[in-house]
Amino acid sequence: KQEVNTWSVARAHTNIALIKYWGKRDEKLFLPTSPSLSLTLDSLYTDTRVRFDPKLSSDELWLAGEKQDDKSTVKITRVIDLFRARYSVPEQTPRMRVESVNHVPTAAGLASSSSGFAALAWALRDAFESAFPQTVAMDDRELSTFARRGSGSATRSIFGGFVEWSYGTGSNDSCAIPVDDARWDVAMVLAAISTQHKKISSTYGMKHTAETSSFYSLWREASEQDLATVREGIRERDIDKIGAAMEANCMKFHATMFAANPPFTYLTSRSWRVIEFVHEMRDSGLSVYFTMDAGPNVKILCRASEQQFVHDKLAERFPEITLFDALPGSGPETLSKDK
Ligand code: PMV
Repeated sequence: KQEVNTWSVARAHTNIALIKYWGKRDEKLFLPTSPSLSLTLDSLYTDTRVRFDPKLSSDELWLAGEKQDDKSTVKITRVIDLFRARYSVPEQTPRMRVESVNHVPTAAGLASSSSGFAALAWALRDAFESAFPQTVAMDDRELSTFARRGSGSATRSIFGGFVEWSYGTGSNDSCAIPVDDARWDVAMVLAAISTQHKKISSTYGMKHTAETSSFYSLWREASEQDLATVREGIRERDIDKIGAAMEANCMKFHATMFAANPPFTYLTSRSWRVIEFVHEMRDSGLSVYFTMDAGPNVKILCRASEQQFVHDKLAERFPEITLFDALPGSGPETLSKDK
């Protein structure tokens, strides 16, 4: 029986990369040029529901109640097509309606694409497994390779805690691997310096950097080293080891863009003011470390036991900046299947 009218509903959390993904060795398959490692967060997430809809002639995407244009919709259709192939879906099967709500400032460098495509993949697996139960079940690692085809960073949101996205030999094994549930004294405070839509997309930014930056090959080598240090720090539950390697990786990551041709940066003077303040707090004895992605926002790694104190210090110094507190989050969950 095909449950075509039932919604499949999923929630997935964003993740922040400690060791960055920055470049594709295969653009179509979204294979990375280097492995990356992230922390999944609890308080920033996307809720997505999907269903087969016999009334539709093509897939539809609704974001926060608004129907999206073809340019956005084609990105989800590409992912849905992979599920159609994986589940050997008959031609006449209805197209899908996808409704998504981000509990994250969209495209502000707070990584809504990671939670967005992870929630989509999770909901799609539920929908296709209910409709085509005879097909071999898909485990979470395989699912992460489907999320990857929507957005690289989404690969890692298929698991909670610290997660590695492996380089892989090809499409099937460039997947997410859970490293540690991070249920210990670790947290983040995110300084949302700008919630404006970013001017240079991560897709374009990484391609331009990989093609033109004279620091790019150095970046790849250095990143492997930083990854090894972060892995070690996680094993030892040593936040200072993790934080120092994360910060160093972030600086090298942004340096690749300074050395691109033409050069560019996502950082603004406000980012630097927050960075300087992180140094100041660290000099006063706090275990605080920063990282930044394809946007001006600064994400601060700290001890969960000191998170409130770090938050208050930041709020006092930067009353104009919105702060988000996050603890390590879990992998995606199925919310409910209502009619
Ligand atoms: O997959 P995207 O387009 O969300 O790329 C994300 C790239 C960074 O956020 C800058 C780094 C990372 O590993 O998440």
